[in-house]
Amino acid sequence: MKILMVCLGNICRSPLAEGIMKTKVPEKFFVDSAGTISMHEGKHPDKRAIKTAAHHNIDISNQKSRPITKADFDAFDKIYCMDIDVYEDVISKTRNEEHRQKVSLFLEAAGDHKNAEVPDPYWGDMNDFEEVFQLLDRGCEAIKKQILA
Ligand code: 4NP
Repeated sequence: MKILMVCLGNICRSPLAEGIMKTKVPEKFFVDSAGTISMHEGKHPDKRAIKTAAHHNIDISNQKSRPITKADFDAFDKIYCMDIDVYEDVISKTRNEEHRQKVSLFLEAAGDHKNAEVPDPYWGDMNDFEEVFQLLDRGCEAIKKQILA
């Protein structure tokens, strides 16, 4: 099973989601993340994301931002999008129904009835990053249960 987490810049939300999911699934699972923009390509996650993950004993400091590619739609089984804009952008890059079936809104897939979108903490503070971490942690736990069921 190959899982791809996608946000806008691939420096805040999806790196956290990747790091969290990796701690939950068996090692044979492949978990990666990408962004819909290439603005931060090659850069490590935002320092606040690294610090928030480290606070929960998760090391995301080695990750590097990359944009989603055409090949990802063939390589991955599940593609989880952090918000609706990202979802629409990712869907617009799909080339067939098989690709489209792989793409979902992260919190919808997680069965979160309260929140549809993982808010972007980029313009926020450490509290926003911690809230995003908690939202992602609950979401990853729910998705993991479905995948392993
Ligand atoms: P992310 O956050 O999509 O969670 O990685 C953002 C990162 C960068 C920008 C916006 C959101 N930006 O505008 O550069």
